[in-house]
Amino acid sequence: MLPPSFSSQLDAYKPKGYSFNDVATRWNHLSTAYREKKGCYTQTKGDHMAYIMARMPATYAACQAVLEEAIGSGLPVPQSALDIGAGPGTMGWALSQLPQGADIIVSQVEQDPEFITFCNRIRPPLKAIHNHKSFLGNTGLSIHDWVTMAYALCELKPAHQEAWVREAYTLVGQSLILIEPGTPVGYQTLMRARDQLIALGGYVLAPCPHQARCPLGEGDWCHFSTRFERTQEARKLKQATLPYEDEKFCYLIVTKSPHLHSLPKGRVLRHPQPRTGHIHLDICAPDGAYKRTTISAKTKSIYKLARSLKWGDDLPFDLPNP
Ligand SMILES: C[S@@+](CC[C@H](N)C(=O)[O-])C[C@H]1O[C@@H](n2cnc3c(N)ncnc32)[C@H](O)[C@@H]1O
Repeated sequence: MLPPSFSSQLDAYKPKGYSFNDVATRWNHLSTAYREKKGCYTQTKGDHMAYIMARMPATYAACQAVLEEAIGSGLPVPQSALDIGAGPGTMGWALSQLPQGADIIVSQVEQDPEFITFCNRIRPPLKAIHNHKSFLGNTGLSIHDWVTMAYALCELKPAHQEAWVREAYTLVGQSLILIEPGTPVGYQTLMRARDQLIALGGYVLAPCPHQARCPLGEGDWCHFSTRFERTQEARKLKQATLPYEDEKFCYLIVTKSPHLHSLPKGRVLRHPQPRTGHIHLDICAPDGAYKRTTISAKTKSIYKLARSLKWGDDLPFDLPNP
């Protein structure tokens, strides 16, 4: 959930004549655009408020989950980060909540004037924030420890995606973090970026525990899920009954140097399936294969660890020989 300092600044920002009903109407319009795959179709002020109140909590939850994974994989907290396609500054808020997040200098690139105004007014607790309007060919952008792009790539045409990935990678000091919706299109977008980044000399840190081709077959796609609390307002806007929502996302963390890698033993690709006396795990393995493994209760040492695993986790033990 976005931190309380965000909510209090948002309350103060709401425009004169702000109407919850107008925002709810704009949210209906936005969610139809998402369903029709038109992407982030923000046109009027109501659209931006609808994105901020109903969609940003979900993209924020995905950003937080991926940043947690980055730190858990051994990346040091960055001193500087560049977020491209920042929207209302979602990633900046997630970065600010990392340990020592208040010491990070964040640069954001966003083309939409409404979102730029929002980012200038509603500011996360970071060491400094710089806002830029254009990305490709912007000579004002320097190298940053981390470069991030969340829910931005798959809204571009494939030819533009390639140019963005290339340019983003030139601005990376240490790591590039990409997040996309957990859909087949989001996955395919990231797979193209993955091929491109490996060809440029990058090393995949997560989610893949290898640099080989993705072993998933046709019709399957690697994605993960994070659960977050819904605010009362978001619940009302979406006419939802549940107090939480699950956001499905795909991600990719690519580093410039191999030495940053911890040694991955595998990635849990689906909800583990516990049975009596054993548990089934679907694993992406370090040899680049997709494996369905059964861990028996007889192998006490790893069974206990296997029982605590969740979809998306790093495997904490070596896969037993079949
Ligand atoms: C779906 S929004 C994602 C916003 C944010 N990253 C998040 O996760 O909530 C994609 C954003 O990319 C921005 N964008 C698209 N093309 C751009 C460009 N050429 N330069 C800068 N921003 C761009 C859009 O204006 C939009 O705000």
